[in-house]
Amino acid sequence: WFPPVAALLIGYLLGSIPWGILLTRIAGAGDLRSIGSGNIGATNVLRTGRKGLAAATLLLDLLKGAAAVWIVAAWFPGEELVAGAAAFVGHCYPLWLRFRGGKGVATMMGVVVALSPMAGLVYAVVWLGLLATIRISSVAGMAAAVAAPVAAAALGRFDLVVLFLGLALIVLWKHRENIERLVAGTEPRIGRKRG
Ligand code: G3P
Repeated sequence: WFPPVAALLIGYLLGSIPWGILLTRIAGAGDLRSIGSGNIGATNVLRTGRKGLAAATLLLDLLKGAAAVWIVAAWFPGEELVAGAAAFVGHCYPLWLRFRGGKGVATMMGVVVALSPMAGLVYAVVWLGLLATIRISSVAGMAAAVAAPVAAAALGRFDLVVLFLGLALIVLWKHRENIERLVAGTEPRIGRKRG
């Protein structure tokens, strides 16, 4: 019983580190939860006007997902999927923030990259490609998340399809307010501030 429980704890603890909140607070840029969408992710950090902080949040939120998989792969081989799932859940539902966490896009990419670099490449291409063209962060993130199980299936990695599908569904659920704004035509594009 020990390896899966250890993988769960390592994943959850790493995933639940709220880098966006920590970095904005350390930089004296205010409380992220009272800025823009109130989300704790890199897109909302960008709304503080601090591009470097947003980039660091993106990288660290991504790395914590990948690190959970890599650490557990080294210490408890065979429990990587548990670690990845736990890191993602830790980011989206952190105990320290009364379970009100982020929307999972960056952390999911870290998990996907660490479990299947090829699926991670597809994720990155869809995400960055849509970010660069349509410039709506939520659409780019949701599309990338949905692309992950499709990529895993195309690669014949059926062990990963169910996990990635589950994570993608949580990403969609977490974006329900964004979806409402998209339908209403009020979802902001990257580069424009929202009050
Ligand atoms: O990853 C979060 C992004 O997709 C949307 O963030 O702040 O616009 O709700 P936000």
